[in-house]
Amino acid sequence: MSGEPGSLPSRVLVTGADGSIGRATTERLLDRGVAVTALSLAFDAASPADRVVVGDARDEDVVARALEGVDAVVHLAAIPHPSLGTPSVVFGTNVVATFTVLAQAGQAGIRRAVIASSINAFGVPMNTNDVSPAYFPLDEGIPTDIADAYSLSKQADEATARMAWRRWGIDVVALRFPLIKDSATLRRSAESAALDPGSMAREGWAYLDIRDGVRAIELAVTVPLTGAHVVGLSADDLLVDRPAAELLRTYAPDVPVRMPIGEHGPLVDTTRARELLGFEPLHSIHRPDGASDELELGALRA
Ligand SMILES: NC(=O)c1ccc[n+]([C@@H]2O[C@H](COP(=O)([O-])OP(=O)(O)OC[C@H]3O[C@@H](n4cnc5c(N)ncnc54)[C@H](O)[C@@H]3O)[C@@H](O)[C@H]2O)c1
Repeated sequence: MSGEPGSLPSRVLVTGADGSIGRATTERLLDRGVAVTALSLAFDAASPADRVVVGDARDEDVVARALEGVDAVVHLAAIPHPSLGTPSVVFGTNVVATFTVLAQAGQAGIRRAVIASSINAFGVPMNTNDVSPAYFPLDEGIPTDIADAYSLSKQADEATARMAWRRWGIDVVALRFPLIKDSATLRRSAESAALDPGSMAREGWAYLDIRDGVRAIELAVTVPLTGAHVVGLSADDLLVDRPAAELLRTYAPDVPVRMPIGEHGPLVDTTRARELLGFEPLHSIHRPDGASDELELGALRA
């Protein structure tokens, strides 16, 4: 276990680089002086990356070409919601892309990968049955109850990470992102969620500012660690601006609460993110944004 800052790689492959997190990650790495190879099925706008590969992350030849000269991988390419394809397309695309990227990277001798898992990996938030989390705060060991192809693909991706580490010795961090967007989009989501707070109860009203998400990715690429790790992430408060205890009493009265919760949350246990990655969220949609770039860089060095 670590949390110590590590050295930056020289070149990182970012898959899904045309997506919202992929673009923010590409920009962050370039700002930090890291060369980026951007891979995506298509690019709606020109990528700022210095090398661009258009292709499918499920295709071994495409991935092998994209990995040339790379020392670390950030794998974000996926169909990010079960409604965006048939169950077999969503599951098949996500798990084959993750397997292909980690297997190719492992066989090429690359030592570090970060993959996008999800708060949905335990299955309860998107479950169509009447289910609740086994407890709050949500942590990486919470029991699974999965009834959709997207959540299952993220659970399988985490298993693929463990397999790739055992088979090829590539260290992998699977980041369980909650809802992660820019602050303006999150504020709009917060307005909708305030009208129907129960709709977000099973994901503990969790969210993350994309700037914090990208900082977590950078830390997961750089901190010294070995093995395959699943890491839950969250802002330090809740998307709905109401006291956590009141939300739990109203919308999840039967779910046990296993540790003390701050007045405004979070309801995701972020101990592992702090201890393994040295990650603390800096941005909240409910506070004036005092987190400057200087503070962010300071937090990375601290
Ligand atoms: N945004 C969120 O709230 C959120 C929350 C939890 C997890 N995640 C995960 O984070 C990752 C990135 O999410 P995002 O919001 O940036 O999604 P996005 O839809 O904006 O971007 C996904 C990108 O992946 C590309 N892609 C899809 N299939 C591909 C394939 N087979 N080969 C190559 N490229 C492919 C798409 O073209 C797109 O550029 C995904 O794995 C998603 O499941 C996102």
